Amino acid sequence: MRIDVQNIYKSFGGNHVLKGLNLTIPEGKITVIVGGSGSGKSVLLKHLTGLLRPDSGKIIVDGRDIVPLPETALFPLRQRIAVIFQSGGLLSSLTVGDNVALGLVEHRLATRDKIPEIVREKLALVRLEGKDGEMPGNLSVGMRKRVSIARALTLHPDLILYDEPTAGLDPPMAENIDDLILRLSRELKVTSVMVTHDLTSVFKLADTVNMLHEGCIIESLPPEEFKNSRNQIVQNFIRREYHAAAIMIL
Ligand SMILES: Nc1ncnc2c1ncn2[C@@H]1O[C@H](COP(=O)(O)OP(=O)(O)OP(=O)(O)O)[C@@H](O)[C@H]1O
Ligand SMILES: [Mg+2]
Repeated sequence: MRIDVQNIYKSFGGNHVLKGLNLTIPEGKITVIVGGSGSGKSVLLKHLTGLLRPDSGKIIVDGRDIVPLPETALFPLRQRIAVIFQSGGLLSSLTVGDNVALGLVEHRLATRDKIPEIVREKLALVRLEGKDGEMPGNLSVGMRKRVSIARALTLHPDLILYDEPTAGLDPPMAENIDDLILRLSRELKVTSVMVTHDLTSVFKLADTVNMLHEGCIIESLPPEEFKNSRNQIVQNFIRREYHAAAIMIL
């Protein structure tokens, strides 16, 4: 799935969040979005799923502007997009297997007898073989995040949006999630968009790093070039995040 965001504006009352934002999301690549807290990263992700509509501007998905489409025309698009929320969004009263099966049941994508096999296959993809019968509460935060990724994969998404997938995870677990995101991108060729503060993830995963600042993407570069950007706001961001990471390790 290829997306071209063109000159979008979005305000909530007097709060002007996106102000003529442009962004290209190429097919099959990992596009990373960074920016300060409250800069509008999650708002931008919600525009990509059609959950929020811009006040003006275009969002061109595979050649077609989705902004003027009626709500019902967005359903097929939403089915092609998976969102991995920060919290994981698992239902604590259901087993891991039933959580993974939720989307299949809801969208009637498989008959009842086929479901266990699909669940096992997706759990294997995220390296959680044999965990079908566990309750989410008995898993680590990183494992729960992998379960929510397995659930997303049952819908065969063309686009996966990750909002801070490694936030709150310790470094080994964050690395584990990063490896999974990279593997899914390479093996399944899913287009991926990731919002993150984690510079380790940024430099390991990104094909392009986009910096959101004051409602616009002010820099869009491959990681190495991003690191060496002359833009003062980019440099301040990198310095601040390295500093924050160093404090966490201490
Ligand atoms: N549904 C909404 N209604 C009104 N205001 C909103 C809504 N969603 C977001 N906002 C506002 O838009 C701004 C950007 O919020 P957003 O959640 O996108 O920030 P963010 O960059 O994701 O921050 P963080 O890094 O803390 O997650 C904030 O000022 C927020 O209060
Ligand atoms: Mg956010």
